[in-house]
Amino acid sequence: MTLQQAQLATTATAAKTQIADKVAELVAAGNSAPTVGLVPTMGALHDGHGALFEQARAENDLVVASVFVNPLQFDRDEDYEHYPRDLDADMELVTRYGGDIVFAPDTQHMYPGYPDAPQIRVSAGQMGRVFEGASRPGHFDGVCTVVAKLWNILMPPAPATLRSYFGQKDAQQLAIVTRLAQDLNIDVDIRPVDLVRAPSGLALSSRNVRLDDHGMEKALGLSQALHYLADQVTNGERVDIDAARDIIRSHEHVELDYLEIVDPATLAPLSEELLARPLAHEALALVAARVPPVRLIDNMLLAP
Ligand code: PAF
Repeated sequence: MTLQQAQLATTATAAKTQIADKVAELVAAGNSAPTVGLVPTMGALHDGHGALFEQARAENDLVVASVFVNPLQFDRDEDYEHYPRDLDADMELVTRYGGDIVFAPDTQHMYPGYPDAPQIRVSAGQMGRVFEGASRPGHFDGVCTVVAKLWNILMPPAPATLRSYFGQKDAQQLAIVTRLAQDLNIDVDIRPVDLVRAPSGLALSSRNVRLDDHGMEKALGLSQALHYLADQVTNGERVDIDAARDIIRSHEHVELDYLEIVDPATLAPLSEELLARPLAHEALALVAARVPPVRLIDNMLLAP
């Protein structure tokens, strides 16, 4: 089967027109409720993004990817400047996964007058200041600002509806954008995409390539600790979070940043009182640790 090349839109007007035209075609062909699946990205796409595109393709009539390196979510200018950019390769990957439209605006189009703009920004509140946000001030505010803009720009005309895909790997980002849609009444259905694990249990990440065999083995402490907690919850036992932290710390040179059990919707850590009994509700375990030379994150839903 030859795949149709994804269409490129570099302006909001072009993207809106392309989406509206495709929606009109679908409606004319008898589809009374077309769905548009949006995969927001910062480009540098690789097969790790594949699960997002596969799920979006399987669930929607039209698949749109956005490719935009968002300066507002970088805490260091040099990271922003050195972020890899290769639109041709990104277009090829989106086409390979069956995507229809790529929205790839430049910075001045997204934020006319940048860096003096945008003046009006979205705050992720307390949810953005904890865990990954604690070491990256402003990061999640930047994510919320760009994601709200992308939803507004790419919102399809009725009767079509918008779904937006985010990886469960970045559990904090997923919880924050879910809350963003609720708090700002943006009519978008957030679709989580499962985290992918290697057979060893290690959560797949582009950073894993920087780990040698010893590093890989040490990194397994993160998923082992999460499984340990998940098993306790499934078995109706009280969770032993200190023992789970020790699993990670037992690996030499691994520095645990945090391992916490939180409410999946608010990211608030569960109280001592709740943790003193077997969990009655689903909770989320979040972990981050430095496994030299990289910092890794992982998470797991704990379901009683
Ligand atoms: O997860 C990402 O790649 C980015 O944070 C996102 C959601 C595309 C916003 O820039």
